[in-house]
Amino acid sequence: MGRTIAELSWPVTTERLSLRPATVDDAAAVFAYRTLDEVGQWLTRLPRDPGAWRVRFAERLPTAIVVERDGAVVGDLFVRVQDAWAQHEVKERAVAAEAEIGWALDPRSGGQGLATEAARELLRICFEGLGVRRVFAICFAANEPSWRLMERLGMRREQYSRADSLHRDGRWLDGMTYALLADEWARGR
Ligand SMILES: CC(C)(COP(=O)(O)OP(=O)(O)OC[C@H]1O[C@@H](n2cnc3c(N)ncnc32)[C@H](O)[C@@H]1OP(=O)(O)O)[C@@H](O)C(=O)NCCC(=O)NCCS
Repeated sequence: MGRTIAELSWPVTTERLSLRPATVDDAAAVFAYRTLDEVGQWLTRLPRDPGAWRVRFAERLPTAIVVERDGAVVGDLFVRVQDAWAQHEVKERAVAAEAEIGWALDPRSGGQGLATEAARELLRICFEGLGVRRVFAICFAANEPSWRLMERLGMRREQYSRADSLHRDGRWLDGMTYALLADEWARGR
């Protein structure tokens, strides 16, 4: 069993930001920017109804971190620890070996490197705090701000899939996976 974000020490601060596990009281602040088309167009869910969103937000608390600047929520991060693929005989060694991460930033706080700053800290949390050996993230290939962020973080484009991901607008879009290993992260610091 790997560690969970609830077991770590919070808040975690960076130069401009403070990160902490989300609570249900953050639902409204996150709803405010995730309902914007420029944000929601790339996310798995586009919230519509505040009440339904609050229920959904409560369900995803174990994987949700909010990012605050000067006491106000400016974005949120996703982190989910999971087992790596492994052959049967060694599967115990692959338990909780990797984490998927993600992000959303209020566009009013965009273009200042805040998402990069938060996600860079999230990598540290994943490798040092949660103890995973690999971190990965997926995105639509058309989501250039997101993959540019991953490249700023030093993550490697490992997969480019042709028309594998269905957008809610009905189009099958190209998808990408980026990843970074713990030893690569440590060398890059
Ligand atoms: C993905 C997302 C978080 C990126 O936001 P962003 O504002 O581009 O990212 P950052 O906060 O790191 O800012 C980077 C920009 O600030 C600039 N910048 C300014 N100061 C900076 C600094 N100190 N450090 C790094 N970048 C800085 C960078 O040059 C970059 O601008 P550019 O893209 O014009 O080159 C945002 O677009 C978003 O929330 N999208 C919707 C949700 C989404 O797509 N989530 C991911 C689904 S896979």
